[in-house]
Amino acid sequence: MSEKLIAQITDIHYPVYKTFKFKDLFSKRITGFANLLFSSRRRFRPHLLPLSLQNLERLGVKHIVITGDLVNLAYPAEYVSLKEVLEESSFTPSQFTIIPGNHDAYTKTAYANNNLHKNLGLFAGVDSFASYPLVRDIGDFTIIGLSTAIPTEFGMAYGRIDDLQLQKLKVLLENSDKPQVIALHHPPQKGLDGWSDGLVNGSELRKLLSRSKVECILHGHEHLNSGHWLQGIDSTRIPVYGTSCAILDPKQSSKNATVRLLRFLDGHLDKTWLVKYNKKTGHWNSVDTI
Ligand SMILES: [Fe+2]
Ligand SMILES: [Fe+2]
Repeated sequence: MSEKLIAQITDIHYPVYKTFKFKDLFSKRITGFANLLFSSRRRFRPHLLPLSLQNLERLGVKHIVITGDLVNLAYPAEYVSLKEVLEESSFTPSQFTIIPGNHDAYTKTAYANNNLHKNLGLFAGVDSFASYPLVRDIGDFTIIGLSTAIPTEFGMAYGRIDDLQLQKLKVLLENSDKPQVIALHHPPQKGLDGWSDGLVNGSELRKLLSRSKVECILHGHEHLNSGHWLQGIDSTRIPVYGTSCAILDPKQSSKNATVRLLRFLDGHLDKTWLVKYNKKTGHWNSVDTI
């Protein structure tokens, strides 16, 4: 029996404070920067990312899925800083499936210029926002990374999967001979697809998935650990997992920096659990809950 351990990390919001510019006082970036500086919830600690990657190597993780909001303001320099951390890890670019979140399309310019793809290099997996789905063959199963990232108005954080991606996804779902895992930033469930911060065309995705046998779905965006189900084909249920932030050091210890681990046996999901950072001990501890 073939066993494979993969990890999901999400909503890194990798902080690089020096990127903020004067002209951003008059753009949407002012809200992102204010959040980064002043919100007590948003205590993102860059030093935890290399520590987490070292821990994943120690645990024998073979592949890492990063489900968006890689940085805060979508500046090139933020992605360059993040890339340096990834390069210093023991993982190669092909061992990552990295997809964007709403913060990676923070402004129209960042989106049009593909700041993520131009500055994350090979780790991005594709060369533009127009190139998704990103498909990774993991041996026994396939990971399909979707982009829900689009530039939005001031104060908005919604996402959308464009029609071309949905068409490509339909073909992938209908023609696979391996189990498939789907990764996207915004949660796909009904009720979480609201106009201000949800996946606004989530119903179109759910319709496609209802005719599929997807193994599981991984998402970020909520900054919460969660487990739900979506309806699949023939009364099957598709597990949907959300995961809390990767490098957060909050006042509430329940939201400590978190990684989701997923064990696959012969390509099928066998078990998932969380690993959380304990800053008092400096250890990453397994937590046997969703
Ligand atoms: Fe986020
Ligand atoms: Fe988000």
